[in-house]
Amino acid sequence: MKKTIKDFDLMGKKVIIRCDLNVPIKDNVITDDTRIRSSIRTIKYAIQNGAKVILLSHLGKVKTEEDKEKNSLYPVSVRLSEYLRKEVLFSPDTRSDKLTEMVDNLKPGDVLLIENTRYEDLDGKKESNCDEGLAKYWASLGDIFINDAYGSCHRNHASVTGIPKYLPSGIGFLVWKEISKIDAILDAKSHPFITILGGKKVDDKIVLIESLLKISDKLLIGGAMSFTFLKECGYNVGKSIVSDEHLSFCKKMLKEYGDKIVLPVDFVTEDGNKDIKDFNDDDIGYDIGPKTIKLFEKELVLAKRVIVNGPMGMFEDDKYINGTKKVFKILDKNKIKTVVGGGDTAASVNKLGFADSFYHVSTGGGATMKYLEDRNLVGIGVIDDGKA
Ligand code: 3PG
Repeated sequence: MKKTIKDFDLMGKKVIIRCDLNVPIKDNVITDDTRIRSSIRTIKYAIQNGAKVILLSHLGKVKTEEDKEKNSLYPVSVRLSEYLRKEVLFSPDTRSDKLTEMVDNLKPGDVLLIENTRYEDLDGKKESNCDEGLAKYWASLGDIFINDAYGSCHRNHASVTGIPKYLPSGIGFLVWKEISKIDAILDAKSHPFITILGGKKVDDKIVLIESLLKISDKLLIGGAMSFTFLKECGYNVGKSIVSDEHLSFCKKMLKEYGDKIVLPVDFVTEDGNKDIKDFNDDDIGYDIGPKTIKLFEKELVLAKRVIVNGPMGMFEDDKYINGTKKVFKILDKNKIKTVVGGGDTAASVNKLGFADSFYHVSTGGGATMKYLEDRNLVGIGVIDDGKA
């Protein structure tokens, strides 16, 4: 049992809250603000209890100077102000005397959002490599550290695991809720228990498949994730996304768990529906096709518990939304206890109007996958223990 924000007297204290405000932004417009809305409860609690609130988050990946502008958290500070109905101060610096001064000038109830923690990655990947000097500097800004960044709890980064080494720490309401809901579905003993995997973060997620296969009765694989498996099965997948370095891993999984893995048999391509066996060298599969939806439905109508991680296709484009929509419809219609996870997946749930249909819509993608592996997330592990 970890300490929570409720275990601290926040009055007049500088409280650093690590949130996951990594929301999709296109042309400076936030296209889905689930993660911002999910962070509000903890921030409000801190404000109402007299804390001087300092918010940290990453946004996207920052590998070049050019990445900085499109990954600025400034638009997020504006949206936060709207939800909190108060001004949210913004520091364009992640580390400077000016930032230290801004923090020193905070009054109880004030909120300050610091620019994207990954700006520090341009200086020797200091955030992502959990640089001690950086963690110490950020820790020096606060009195208490609260981790409410569920979606980032699998990351050993300075703003997640570094800061709590130097400050009293606890988890926020979002992390608590996410863990409670996912534990509840894992602890339920009903079967069949089916996991559905999709999305485009193939390299990140594919290695976690084995742990899903161990706990699931069936694993349905859609989205870009499926092509590495299909290539390993001998199909020509055309120009679809494949992670060649993981082909031998897929071979091993197919050998050991072949009876549990269900792969797509057709896709929606630019030329319409196509069976995977008919793909030519230029084809790209953007969504699962109607035969695959039927195949998945046959399994899903029997399911008692389901975890979905990642959309079935490129749902951002309405032409390729059908697979994800149909899978959600099947789960909703059959009232199957379902946890839907992943930043992209939560966005697809909202876009398709299923926000209230499921047992839990998680803000974590990789974090949930990692949690399913061994119920152990580094970002939570480092937090102070509370009363047993
Ligand atoms: C996510 O989108 O899953 C989290 O915000 C973590 O982002 P990352 O995969 O870039 O670390």
